[in-house]
Amino acid sequence: MRAAVAASKRPLGLVPTMGFLHEGHLALVRQARADNAAVAVSIFVNPTQFGPAEDFAQYPRDVDRDLSLLRREGVDAVFVPAVEEMYPAGFGTSVLVEGITERLEGEFRPGHLRGVATIVAKLFNIVRPERAYFGQKDAQQLRVIRKMVLDLNLPVEIRGAPTIREPDGLALSSRNVMLSPVERAAATVLSRALGEARRRYEDGERSGDRLREVVRAVLAAEPLALADYVSVADADTLLELAEMDQPALLSLAVRIGKVRLIDNVVLP
Ligand code: PAJ
Repeated sequence: MRAAVAASKRPLGLVPTMGFLHEGHLALVRQARADNAAVAVSIFVNPTQFGPAEDFAQYPRDVDRDLSLLRREGVDAVFVPAVEEMYPAGFGTSVLVEGITERLEGEFRPGHLRGVATIVAKLFNIVRPERAYFGQKDAQQLRVIRKMVLDLNLPVEIRGAPTIREPDGLALSSRNVMLSPVERAAATVLSRALGEARRRYEDGERSGDRLREVVRAVLAAEPLALADYVSVADADTLLELAEMDQPALLSLAVRIGKVRLIDNVVLP
């Protein structure tokens, strides 16, 4: 990969992924393509960001299909390392972004964001892109990467991209294929709950508690949905807000059967 990127045109844009690509990933690739002279994509299901009881083994994989999609997008290089290559015996360093990783995903997935920051730092050091692209779908992840880059003076520009959705509102996710048809129908509850909260916000509601209640009420009407958290937080610090007098990240994590889904909107 080092040799491939050494010969690459510049600027080079990197899109890190765990594969099983969908239109959300491809939107990042197209943005990278438009902004840069060359595009690299990484495909790596990163074991260190999965907890022991999580779905690392079940996470969907289809590298051949991914490669043909990326070829069609005109991607210049694809990096598909093996686990032993990224984490050889004796590996023992990690990147912990403090504070903002303790809440939301960090609270329910201990170690997850440490695993994400560590693998992304490694990918940046291997590929050395001028720019890297991340989806707003994983809002806290994007926030953590921006903070890591700032705190560690990493020479890469982070660009965020909007969440791509199915026509019925469900945010695209590689995990959506793990939903049964009944669960897939129930999964629209995430975007419906966020949409209802957005309407209340647009009607002038500014109480964090009341918006969290609005979201919880929509979720409660879907018996298959179990919420890990419903948050109305400062978009920058991710601290819960009582009054929404600053940009707020409204986010939620919901379990539907064995599948855990996340979604968010930023208000206003
Ligand atoms: P993965 O879930 O494969 O997502 C790769 C990138 O695609 C992330 O930046 C994610 O936010 C973005 N993405 C996913 N679904 C999206 C959607 N519906 N609309 C827009 N963008 C979307 O996130 C990861 O992998 C990993 O944590 C990674 C950063 C690769 C580190 O292992």
